[in-house]
Amino acid sequence: MAAHPDAHRQVRPVAAQTTYALRQQILRPHQSIAEVGFPGDDDPETGHFAAFAGADADAGTGAGEPIGVVTVLHQPPPLARIADPDRWWRLRGMATVERHRRGGVGSALVDAALAHVAAHDGTGVWCHARLPAVEFYRRHGFVESGDPWDEPGLGPHVAMWRRIPRPPPP
Ligand SMILES: CC(C)(COP(=O)(O)OP(=O)(O)OC[C@H]1O[C@@H](n2cnc3c(N)ncnc32)[C@H](O)[C@@H]1OP(=O)(O)O)[C@@H](O)C(=O)NCCC(=O)NCCS
Repeated sequence: MAAHPDAHRQVRPVAAQTTYALRQQILRPHQSIAEVGFPGDDDPETGHFAAFAGADADAGTGAGEPIGVVTVLHQPPPLARIADPDRWWRLRGMATVERHRRGGVGSALVDAALAHVAAHDGTGVWCHARLPAVEFYRRHGFVESGDPWDEPGLGPHVAMWRRIPRPPPP
C-alpha cells in the first residue's frame, strides 16, 4: 500500500505570523490578514506550531508553506469550579489545509500544543470548538461544557476542555 502523502511530515514551533495565512484562509476568510491576530499572540509563553510536508518538512525553521497550524495561549478558562485557572491554556487557530485533512496533521499539532502546555507546567487546556470539529477534539480527550452558541461571522461553537496528565513521580 502506498504511504500517505503526509507521511513525511514535521511539526515545528513557528512565529505567530507564520500561522496567519491559514488562520485567515481557513478560519476567518471574511477578515484580512491584519485582523487575524489573537490577543496574546506575541506573549513569549505562547506556542505557535505549524506542520510541513514533503520537502518543506526538511527545509528547517522559517521556510516552507504550512499545511496546518495551531496556537496555544496561557489564558484562564471560562469554566466554573476550576481550582487552578492560572495553570490553564487556550487552544486557538486550529486548522489543516483541506486536501491534507484526515491524515493526522491536526492530531500532530494538538500533540505539540499539549506538550507545550505540559512543559510549562499547565494542568488544563480549553477551547471554543466549532461544532463540526467537536468530534476531532473528543478524539483528543476534550469534553464539552455548557450549551453551544452562535459566534457571529464564525458559526456555532461549544466550549471544550481537558486536563493534562501529571508526569509520574520519578
Ligand atoms: C478540525 C481539523 C483541524 C482536523 O484536522 P485534521 O488534520 O483533519 O485532523 P486529523 O487527521 O488528525 O484527525 C484526527 C481524527 O479526528 C477526527 N476528525 C477529524 N476531522 C473530523 C471531522 N470533520 N468530523 C469528524 N471527525 C473528524 C477523526 O476521528 C480523525 O481520525 P480518522 O480520520 O483517522 O478517523 C480540520 O478538519 C480543519 O481544519 N477544519 C476546518 C477548521 C476548523 O474547524 N478548525 C477547528 C476550529 S475550532
